[in-house]
Order: sequence, then structure tokens, then C-alpha cells
Amino acid sequence: MTKKSVLITGCSSGIGLGVAEGLKDRSYRVFATARQATDVARLAAAGFESLQLDLADSDSIQSAVKEVLARTGGTLDALFNNGAYGQPGAVEDLSREVLREQFETNLFGWHELTRLVIPVMRRQGHGRIIQNSSVLGFVALRYRGAYNASKYALEGLTDTLRLELAGSGIHVSLIEPGPIASHFRENAFKAYQRNINPQGSPHQDMYRHMEARLTRPGPAVPFTLPAEAVLKKVIHALQSRRPRARYYVTFPTWLFGFLKRILSSRLLDRVLIKIG
Ligand SMILES: NC(=O)c1ccc[n+]([C@@H]2O[C@H](COP(=O)([O-])OP(=O)(O)OC[C@H]3O[C@@H](n4cnc5c(N)ncnc54)[C@H](OP(=O)(O)O)[C@@H]3O)[C@@H](O)[C@H]2O)c1
Repeated sequence: MTKKSVLITGCSSGIGLGVAEGLKDRSYRVFATARQATDVARLAAAGFESLQLDLADSDSIQSAVKEVLARTGGTLDALFNNGAYGQPGAVEDLSREVLREQFETNLFGWHELTRLVIPVMRRQGHGRIIQNSSVLGFVALRYRGAYNASKYALEGLTDTLRLELAGSGIHVSLIEPGPIASHFRENAFKAYQRNINPQGSPHQDMYRHMEARLTRPGPAVPFTLPAEAVLKKVIHALQSRRPRARYYVTFPTWLFGFLKRILSSRLLDRVLIKIG
């Protein structure tokens, strides 16, 4: 039997790496992509079919897909859209350019990649598209506006796509993790240092707390789970005859999903504003 093929973005660390390893262990043919050449080499040394794919770069997306299809003979069973980063900063401190960069990687790159894969899946009559969203795709937290916006947009685009692909044999699922151990905060801190100037911002004091949270070693919040928690849901979305539209991962996702349903926006804000 031929192995099921899956293309994954953002495999240098965290969830992407954990899911790539977990699927390889389960005999999937994993195309584990990363944007840095050193990570591609590391993944190749670990036994993956690894390719360079930078979601902020159209040429890189297109050549990676071309190469994958050349290797598979024009088929691809599944796409796990995962590579992304969090741009911290108060909404009023985000320049248009910084917000655009967040969307280039977290949304437009995913969309371009997905559009390249859909015709392949249509031709073969089946496929799974799994979008790694977030609890922050349906509730907002302060100083995460750019990331929140990118994940809310992803949820909207994905819900529409699911409706449009109904009956095509292509199933589309969203994964909504809460806190997962990864390099996410480390990478968010770099984006903060690169793009936000706390001096003179009305949020200057809050930024000190945020810096402490982003640089704290170990899990920043309770209920943090390892990447395997996401892997379990990805496996269900890949293998189930009826994959779910949404997979919640971690207690905070379930809690906020519940609170969002039962509370008014005013009351929900009172809860969310307490979270730093
Ligand atoms: N960790 C959490 O608590 C959490 C919760 C909810 C959702 N998520 C979602 O989970 C996904 C993975 O994040 P993670 O937690 O595993 O964080 P991570 O360890 O920082 O991994 C993020 C991955 O995305 C890659 N990436 C960033 N920009 C990219 C680009 N332009 N092109 C291609 N890849 C790029 C990173 O590559 P580099 O190493 O080159 O930067 C890295 O491989 C993201 O979609 C994130 O929004 C995470």
C-alpha cells in the first residue's frame, strides 16, 4: 500500500515538528518544510523529506509545491497549515507594515499554499486540509491584536472554504489549541523587539509585564500541553471518515469556547481583560 502523503509547514520547532515526527512514526510520507536552510538540513538528517518553504515568499511556496508534486507523481493526501508567528503589541502601536507582515505569513501564505493544493486534491477526488488556528481565533486578548486578527481571518476563510468544498471529497478542519509547549513565545518576543517601540507608548507599563511573560522559562500559563495533544487531533482529522470542523485542544480552549457561548460581550470582556 502506498503511504499517505502530508505536507506540513513550520516544522523547525513546536507543533509542526511534533506533528511531523508523530506522522512519520505512523508511516505517513511527511514533507516537513521549514523556511531556514539550516532547519531543512536538520529535518533531512532526521529522515524527513524536507523542503524549504517560506510562507512570506510566493516563489518559495510555489517551488516547494512543485517539488512535492514531482516527487509524488502529482498527488497529495493532506496539507497541515501550521507555520506562523505571534506579533505582540497594542493595536495602536502596530504599523500598517507590521500588521501586513503578520498577515503575509499567518494568512496569505496559507491561502496561496492551499490554493495550489486544492486542484490536486480535486483531481484525485479526496484530500484533507487541516488549519492550525488557535483559541485566539475566537477570543481576543490584549496585546495580541495582530495575531488575533490573523487567526480570526483564518477562521472566516476556513469556514467559507469548508462550505465551498462540501461534497468534493476534500475535508477541511480547524484545530484550536490553547497553550502548547513550543518556541512560540520566544519567536513572539523577537517579533516584539523587532517591531514595537515601547518608549512613549501609552502601554509602556503593560509591555514590561508582557516582556516578562514572553521571556519566562518553562510554561507561561497553567494547562500547557505538549505538541502530542495537537497530533492526536490531526490524526483524527486525517483518518476519520467524518473529520470535525473544529478540534479544541487544551482546557483554556474549552473554557473560552463555553464562555463565548454563554456570556455577553460585555461580560466576556470582564474576564478577558484580567488576562495579561
Ligand atoms: N504554542 C501555542 O501555544 C499555540 C497555541 C495556539 C495555536 N498555535 C499555532 O500553532 C502553530 C505553530 O506554532 P508553535 O506553537 O509550534 O510555535 P513555534 O515553535 O514558534 O513554531 C512556529 C513555526 O512556524 C514557522 N514560521 C514562522 N514564520 C514562517 C514563515 N514565514 N514561513 C514558514 N514558516 C514560518 C517557524 O519557523 P522559524 O523557526 O523559521 O521561525 C516555526 O517552524 C502556529 O500556527 C500557531 O499560531 C500555537
